[in-house]
Amino acid sequence: MEKNTNSQSTIQPVENYAIERAKQNIRDKIITGLGKDFTIEKARKVLGENFDIELRIPPPNIEGHLSFPCFPLAKILRKSPMIIAKELADTIPIEKDGYIDHLKEVKGFLNIFLNRERFNREIFMDFEKYGDDYGNSMEGKGKTVVIDLSSPNVAKPFSVGNVRSTTIGDSISRIYKALGWNVINDNHLGDWGTQFGKLLYAYEVWGDNEKIGKDPINELLKLYVRFHNEMEGKGSDDGESENPMLTEARKRFKLLEDKDPEMTRIWSWFVDLSMREFNKIYDRLDVKFDYNFGESFYSDKTDEVIDLLEESGIATREEDGSLVVPLDKEGISTPALIQKKDGATLYATRELATIIYRIRRFQPDLIIYVVGSEQKLHFNQCFKVMEMLGFKTRCAHVDFGLVSLKEGKMSARKGRVVFFDRVMAEGFQKALEILKEKRPDLPEEEKIEIARVVSVGAIKFNDLAQNRVKNVVFDWDNMLSFEGDTAPYLQYSYARVQSILRKADVEIEIYPELLKENEEFDLIRKLSRFPETIKEAGNNFAPHIIAQYLLEIARAFSVFYGKIPVLKAPGKKLMMSRLALIRAYADVIKRSLSLLGIDTLSRM
Ligand code: ARG
Repeated sequence: MEKNTNSQSTIQPVENYAIERAKQNIRDKIITGLGKDFTIEKARKVLGENFDIELRIPPPNIEGHLSFPCFPLAKILRKSPMIIAKELADTIPIEKDGYIDHLKEVKGFLNIFLNRERFNREIFMDFEKYGDDYGNSMEGKGKTVVIDLSSPNVAKPFSVGNVRSTTIGDSISRIYKALGWNVINDNHLGDWGTQFGKLLYAYEVWGDNEKIGKDPINELLKLYVRFHNEMEGKGSDDGESENPMLTEARKRFKLLEDKDPEMTRIWSWFVDLSMREFNKIYDRLDVKFDYNFGESFYSDKTDEVIDLLEESGIATREEDGSLVVPLDKEGISTPALIQKKDGATLYATRELATIIYRIRRFQPDLIIYVVGSEQKLHFNQCFKVMEMLGFKTRCAHVDFGLVSLKEGKMSARKGRVVFFDRVMAEGFQKALEILKEKRPDLPEEEKIEIARVVSVGAIKFNDLAQNRVKNVVFDWDNMLSFEGDTAPYLQYSYARVQSILRKADVEIEIYPELLKENEEFDLIRKLSRFPETIKEAGNNFAPHIIAQYLLEIARAFSVFYGKIPVLKAPGKKLMMSRLALIRAYADVIKRSLSLLGIDTLSRM
């Protein structure tokens, strides 16, 4: 199997690919073509400092390979955009063997048609030169990013919702590595807080070691749910007298905070049991972390936060003794609660301690939090408090929508919980059935391996293919389809190319000038956009940009392959050149999938 592990420390960042070289060259020609009075600096004075001569990819219905909009220039050149574009088209010299084949004015745009021979030569040179590093860049060189991802809660099941943070976070991590950043993955486990007092109490009263040993997470969840059910039966917390069960829970959490050995022992056992389950999932998803610090790691670092907030005068003590940071002047109407009236710290207190710790220890240029949209307010509050304290590090909440099952909404509260391992087992079984039907010829072991890679790929692609803020529907039948916008479709496309290459069984030589058909050049141009696609995905924290790109090149390949004979091409040179093209396509598919954390197989 070709494993796309995330420990790609060998990434060699490179830059300046064929498309960029072409753009630079054409940009220079446009600047010269605009006359000796025109300079970028002068233009920026009028049009704003961000102005540049930028070449774009025209929309599919417009002919041409690159296009330059002349509208902004009308103002400084005092000519209509049509005339500017027309003059450029008429005056820019077309060199023999240059990047440009011909130019055309289209509605105020200068449209550029590339010289296919030259461009093909350049891009195949890149493929050859950079190999597996094709697409990587040096954009993030010398910069560090901390990614807060996965972060499930101890003693709670790892749901398909948790999978989203893991999958999106892991993909962003891979993308940032490809962009040359130093990346630190930190799994911020939910292993602290008053809920552990409840659990400790419930365990003391109803816990059964044998049962917990057999099915830890499920049993611990049951204890937690039972605590809440029984508490509701025992009279509510009406403000006058606290519910006696709550008092007991509070006591135990306080003991834990004060490092009581017995409470600590039981708590650590819960953490171990949970981690063992989580690690199985991480192995399955092939996701690795540099740190699993968790909230408990910061429990002794919250006093400093409280002092800092009080000294700086940002926080106010309320009459009941609690500590809050009012944020209404900052445009956030809900104040941040830092300390409860009984002195206990909160999620937000530990969050602030975490940010400060990360800034001091890693000196990051960026911290990314891959956490569901429901925590938007929490992060807005924490980031604002950090800003008020004078910290400058850029923090980004990379949020995402809910996962719902085809049968209806999934509720993590009380009972109806979806366990990831069960969901995964179901997907694997379904994939295996599909294979039994489609490929009865394959040996059993191979079918099992394919089913595993396909089902893991399917679940990841489902989480990554759409804009993250959208809710996703979880439906194995759709996710596993070989015909839809799915991982199996892409993985199969890759395997198909590998099978053609095996069949051809030749030492490939490439004659780039022979690849002149529209379908060939269309695929080549799309492959040339891989480097900028990675940048765009990284800058927007948007793995779906890679996913959509994958679908786009896969479609271009299928159009190409439907029309253009490869193994039956007229002439050996042409056949080899086409083989080189599909091999490059497969490489980009593999690399793009690897940025999503999805594996490929050379046989399917
Ligand atoms: N454990 C939290 C939850 O499941 C997510 C933690 C996210 N990370 C963070 N730094 N707050 O809701």
